[in-house]
Amino acid sequence: MYFFIPTKIYFGCHVLKEFGKEISKYGNKAFIVTGRQSAVQSGVLDDLLPLLESMQIEYTIFNEITENPDIKSISRGKEAFATQMQGQRQALPLHDFIIAIGGGSPLDAGKAISIMAANDLEEKDIYNTALHKKAFPIIAIPTTSGTGSEATQYSVLSNNETKIKAGFGNELMFPKLSFVDPKYTLSLGYHVTRDTAIDALSHLLEGLYSNKYNEFLLPFICTGVKLIFENLHACLADLQNIKYRHNLMLASNYGGIVIAHSSTTLQHSIGYPLTTVYGLSHGLANGVVMKQIMDLYEPHIKKRLDDLFSFVGITKNQFFDWIDTLELQFEGKIDNTFIEKRTPEVMKSRNMTLNPFEVKENDVIKIYRELGSSG
Ligand SMILES: [Fe+2]
Repeated sequence: MYFFIPTKIYFGCHVLKEFGKEISKYGNKAFIVTGRQSAVQSGVLDDLLPLLESMQIEYTIFNEITENPDIKSISRGKEAFATQMQGQRQALPLHDFIIAIGGGSPLDAGKAISIMAANDLEEKDIYNTALHKKAFPIIAIPTTSGTGSEATQYSVLSNNETKIKAGFGNELMFPKLSFVDPKYTLSLGYHVTRDTAIDALSHLLEGLYSNKYNEFLLPFICTGVKLIFENLHACLADLQNIKYRHNLMLASNYGGIVIAHSSTTLQHSIGYPLTTVYGLSHGLANGVVMKQIMDLYEPHIKKRLDDLFSFVGITKNQFFDWIDTLELQFEGKIDNTFIEKRTPEVMKSRNMTLNPFEVKENDVIKIYRELGSSG
């Protein structure tokens, strides 16, 4: 049994203002990785840029990261990290460290860019962790309550050509510092708030499902699930409420701490193709199969689930009813082509080795078919 999180996490309102001076330990040239909108809308840049300027830290903003970041955008990030904006190639490194701002996509992209740049990797080698010998320091500032990436060593990328979404992990990718401030989630709308919370819920539950589960994780799992169960509807009805936002952010951070130890399992593996093929948000892809996955695991981890629901003060049936009230819908049709192509992909995924029992191909097919079949 072990517990290991090398990330220094500051949590709460205004932590960047209060503790941001620590960023200067990592150099004087920052490479900011973000999406087109999240860093601006969340208010992070309004706080961060004056802070960097006050510490004479120069910065480049690379804002080309989209949802489910494509490996090609990581390559462009690597080039921008190492090359002056005029396009003149420089000896590595042109920047000292990375500040990743956003939901899971920019955070995961920041980690991948760090690894790719530090080891001068080509795209084809991004999943080859044997080649990942070093990394540039990563500082994470999440703007959603879902990913938990600010507390993990994982990066999940997509290949837009093959439509395969897959992750990799390396202790080098744990952020050195994370500034987790719930006020950065106040601008999120209903669906992003709901779907990201469901992603966090998946991470917490997968801590119980994984064969790498250990008892250190139980307090985080139980408290995190309870926080989501008790705060999600309230937050959806009052999106600007900082208390609910605080509680969901805490649960999301707990989810990250949990999967840093347990990794994710079938729940995430089965959800990835629903995102790459049908365009479901990551959280929704996990959510639409959440009940079926729990039913599949229950006989193998019954005691853990019973302990969880006893802590939350509900039964499994009440939990299922609560999931139904969130109206997580899959409106596509699962056809034979999807089943034939994507089931082997799920079966081969890295996370499948972490199931505490043998998941059969038919288990996966059954879950997909139940979502809605066109024959
Ligand atoms: Fe996730």
